[in-house]
Amino acid sequence: MKGLSHDFEGEAEEFDKVISKIVPFYYQMIDALVTSISSTPFSRKKILDLGCGTGNVSKRILQRYPHCSITCMDKSKNMIEVARFKLSPYPQIRFVLADFLHLDSSEQYDIIVSSLALHHLVTDNEKRWLYKIIYETLKLNGLFYNADFVLASNENLQNIYMNKWQKHMGKNMPQSKIENKILSKYYEEDRPAELIAQLNWLSEIGFTNIDVMWKYYNFAVYGGRKPGKA
Ligand SMILES: C[S@@+](CC[C@H](N)C(=O)[O-])C[C@H]1O[C@@H](n2cnc3c(N)ncnc32)[C@H](O)[C@@H]1O
Repeated sequence: MKGLSHDFEGEAEEFDKVISKIVPFYYQMIDALVTSISSTPFSRKKILDLGCGTGNVSKRILQRYPHCSITCMDKSKNMIEVARFKLSPYPQIRFVLADFLHLDSSEQYDIIVSSLALHHLVTDNEKRWLYKIIYETLKLNGLFYNADFVLASNENLQNIYMNKWQKHMGKNMPQSKIENKILSKYYEEDRPAELIAQLNWLSEIGFTNIDVMWKYYNFAVYGGRKPGKA
């Protein structure tokens, strides 16, 4: 399996400066992701952050839960380097330079999170497959939450989503940049899936307590729990 090419190496330096100009309520969204995992009794939880990028999600987790340990996984060396610098005050972080398509369940986690990364998987089958591996990689009673681009369940709503997204970007950059840089790249490289379909996949795989914690048009935070006694 192979993802579409995307130059994350070249984006690492700029990422933190531009992400909230592109993604509406970016920090609110990742706060919702961090809040989603707080429903579990929280002490020294072992957490995996898939596609950690520059480490924003992991940093917020550690600010709120300083006794957990986190494995930050990303396939971009430059992203990992920025994250390593940002998270240097936290000794309980481990960085893994790897493609999450190679995730296997040999090491188990209490919580798995991801933000703005899984939509880079090209097909629905790849996404379903990864959700299954995530399920297998979780300990019993473990939680999985994803913050990501999603698609609407029909064209009419999808048009509304795209208009809202463009309106947000329009406050921060010229229309030419939105069209020639952001949207052209989005259509070429990003492959979000319908939110409702993804919730069904999670259910079919065996997740329970599936819910959407936060949503702003084409951005959502959703996930569930692997059943069983911890
Ligand atoms: C848009 S950034 C998001 C970073 C971070 N999670 C955040 O929300 O700020 C997407 C990240 O996912 C990583 N990524 C994309 N596909 C990946 C894959 N197949 N395996 C590992 N990392 C991947 C990229 O390298 C990039 O750092």
